[in-house]
Amino acid sequence: MSGTCVIGLQWGDEAKGKLVDLLAPQFDYVVRYQGGANAGHTVVAGSETYKLHHIPSGILHPHVKNMITPGVVINPTTLIAEIDGLAPRGVNCAENMLISERAHLVMPWHIAEDRQTNATEVRGESIGTTNRGIGPCYRDKVGRTHAIRMTDLLQPERDERIRTVAEQKTKILRSLGVPEEELQQIAPDVVVPLAASWAKRLSAMIGDTTEILLDAAEADKKLLFEGAQGALLDIDHGTYPFVTSSNSSGVGICAGSGIPPKWIDHVLGVCKAYSTRVGGGPFVTELEDAVGDQIRKLGNEYGTTTGRPRRCGWFDAVAVRYTARLSGVTRLALMMMDVLAHLDELKVCVAYELDGQRITRFPGHADQLRRCKPIYETIEGWKEPVDDVRSVDDFPEGALAYVRRIEELVGVPVGVLSVGPDRAQTIFTDASSVLKLQPVA
Ligand code: GDP
Ligand code: IMO
Ligand code: MG
Repeated sequence: MSGTCVIGLQWGDEAKGKLVDLLAPQFDYVVRYQGGANAGHTVVAGSETYKLHHIPSGILHPHVKNMITPGVVINPTTLIAEIDGLAPRGVNCAENMLISERAHLVMPWHIAEDRQTNATEVRGESIGTTNRGIGPCYRDKVGRTHAIRMTDLLQPERDERIRTVAEQKTKILRSLGVPEEELQQIAPDVVVPLAASWAKRLSAMIGDTTEILLDAAEADKKLLFEGAQGALLDIDHGTYPFVTSSNSSGVGICAGSGIPPKWIDHVLGVCKAYSTRVGGGPFVTELEDAVGDQIRKLGNEYGTTTGRPRRCGWFDAVAVRYTARLSGVTRLALMMMDVLAHLDELKVCVAYELDGQRITRFPGHADQLRRCKPIYETIEGWKEPVDDVRSVDDFPEGALAYVRRIEELVGVPVGVLSVGPDRAQTIFTDASSVLKLQPVA
């Protein structure tokens, strides 16, 4: 019994940060294993709100070790800003955080390229990335010739390596039409000293997370894996090409962290009680009407990283069943139940109609998904606030009926219900005893 994972089952922002923070005290390590500063994980602790991008959401618990493992792509400038932003709030990252020497760096040229290409349309729509340089960085990782890793910051030939890549990248980005003022930001004379400053600040926090985590797993320590983004944004299994550039479903845990599957016992699949999406791409249950606006307002559905309004819609059981199976989910965490308490009538998508046929399979092509029409089941709203509910027994019957229907449709029991952003606004259902997870104060 050693590894538990928290995976988003929709398009991100399912409240993974809240759950990881809540569960972290029962674990020895919290592990971020993919994505980068495209993630924005919110942790509300009393009157304080923390927005974490690279830093694992276990960081508020001093006895928990937080690991940023090889699959994460790191922008050192923003990571240092995050560390410095937490320090005056009493959070000491130097003591309890380690960054893998194998992790790749998001360099200024990756961000310039992301900005330059973000408006490019693919299949009639732009992906609408977070402009954090994620796609260009992962592409260089796979391409190898222009990649720079954490360990490179510590090598004697660092300056030479960075100078060479900066010169090559300047030529490539000039040919892509990046304006000369922006190219100045990636000039060798700018980036070489910048990288030296990163090395100075971060060297004490760079190490071999793989070795440490393998030792920990073998010593029966408890590991909590923190997914970023959501499974529908997975590069291989999501709504391609409207996805992120890493494996954000359960399949990414082992590749990104270096921990083999035998150490993973539980996968907690996090989803909102409705759906949201930021950026472009198909969204079968999207509500482009007053109800969608109402959900956005009630759920404060604006991006944690970019501030963009999130697209809102009904719960899509076809999509979540697919991602729950794909991610090996053992329990669902159903978040934002408080938001639905205000609506008169709820809908859950139980199947799609594609070209006149009813299907329950999640199609692999974005154009097919765009053509899918949702087939809904209507459920009466329960119209009773649940923000202050702290046990399943006190949940309105209508709300429980909604939860049970989602369990049936997705095929996985609900272990956690969330009724607000606060730690206390969380209910661990009976089923969660199987997970051996207990709520913390
Ligand atoms: P993450 O990226 O998956 O960690 O999620 P985000 O932090 O981007 O977005 C989730 C938002 O919902 C945050 O602002 C949380 O504070 C908030 N939140 C978490 N759980 C609940 C809940 O049950 N109800 C409400 N109303 N808000 C919640
Ligand atoms: P967390 O971890 C929601 C979306 C972007 C865009 C697509 C590709 O907070 O859940 P990228 O910058 O990764 O190349 O953008 O993925 N996206 C997210 N949406 N939550 C996230 O992270 C996201 N990270 C990326 O909006 O549609
Ligand atoms: Mg987020």
